[in-house]
Amino acid sequence: MTDKNVRRIKTGIDGLDELLKGGIPEGHVFTVMGAFGTGKTTFSLQYIWEGLQQGESGIFITLEEDKDAMIETGLSYGWDFEPYIEDDQLAVEKLIPADAEATIQRIKSDLPKFIKNFDAERIAIDSVSLLNMLADDPEEKRDQLFALTKMIKDTGTTALLTAEVKDENPESSRDGLIEYTADGVILLRYNQTDTGDVQLSIQVKKMRRIDHSRKMKPFVITDSGIDVQVDGTIF
Ligand SMILES: Nc1ncnc2c1ncn2[C@@H]1O[C@H](COP(=O)(O)OP(=O)(O)O)[C@@H](O)[C@H]1O
Ligand SMILES: [Mg+2]
Repeated sequence: MTDKNVRRIKTGIDGLDELLKGGIPEGHVFTVMGAFGTGKTTFSLQYIWEGLQQGESGIFITLEEDKDAMIETGLSYGWDFEPYIEDDQLAVEKLIPADAEATIQRIKSDLPKFIKNFDAERIAIDSVSLLNMLADDPEEKRDQLFALTKMIKDTGTTALLTAEVKDENPESSRDGLIEYTADGVILLRYNQTDTGDVQLSIQVKKMRRIDHSRKMKPFVITDSGIDVQVDGTIF
């Protein structure tokens, strides 16, 4: 059953918003999964950029790139994040997962306060795969991921968490957990034919509470970001 009353948050990727029949339900914690180079960071930036254009505030948490590199990447797509940072409409935080204890502390206690105080409507964490290195024990990992998703959900923000996939199974996240804890799963895939042709594809695998398309659609990354070809076909 589709909840027609739920407000939709546009991802800023037109073709995808079409597949989602309007966008991501507000308050969802969703994951964008894919192998390296499939566009996860681009997706996160585009998602936050779209919010800024709608007058919303956003938080971008990066575990991989530095703040400067993130700004540079944005510029390469024509998205100038800097003025939004100066106006306190956007916060960019770099987490260094090497310092496990401090990172967990910041996530558990500082992040919820930060989201609330900043009144962030959108948050992107790129990527949660690195956070998983913080725990050794599988049970502890699961508990932490559950706690993180719940904590974010409680703030009411609409959150995108990117995740790496397993080398041997590009449909499953590396930890095999986030797809279960998240309200939604968007899968990015890299397809290659025997003749060496390459195509990127996107598919909404899961989106709680809405009726969405499950079709896999081709997309390209251009100098203005991700462009989903809703009328295209997968080879
Ligand atoms: N400005 C750009 N114009 C067109 N394509 C780009 C641009 N910047 C990056 N790309 C493409 O996007 C890919 C990187 O996507 P990225 O979002 O970093 O993927 P991931 O985070 O999944 O590793 C690059 O490998 C390149 O093919
Ligand atoms: Mg990336």
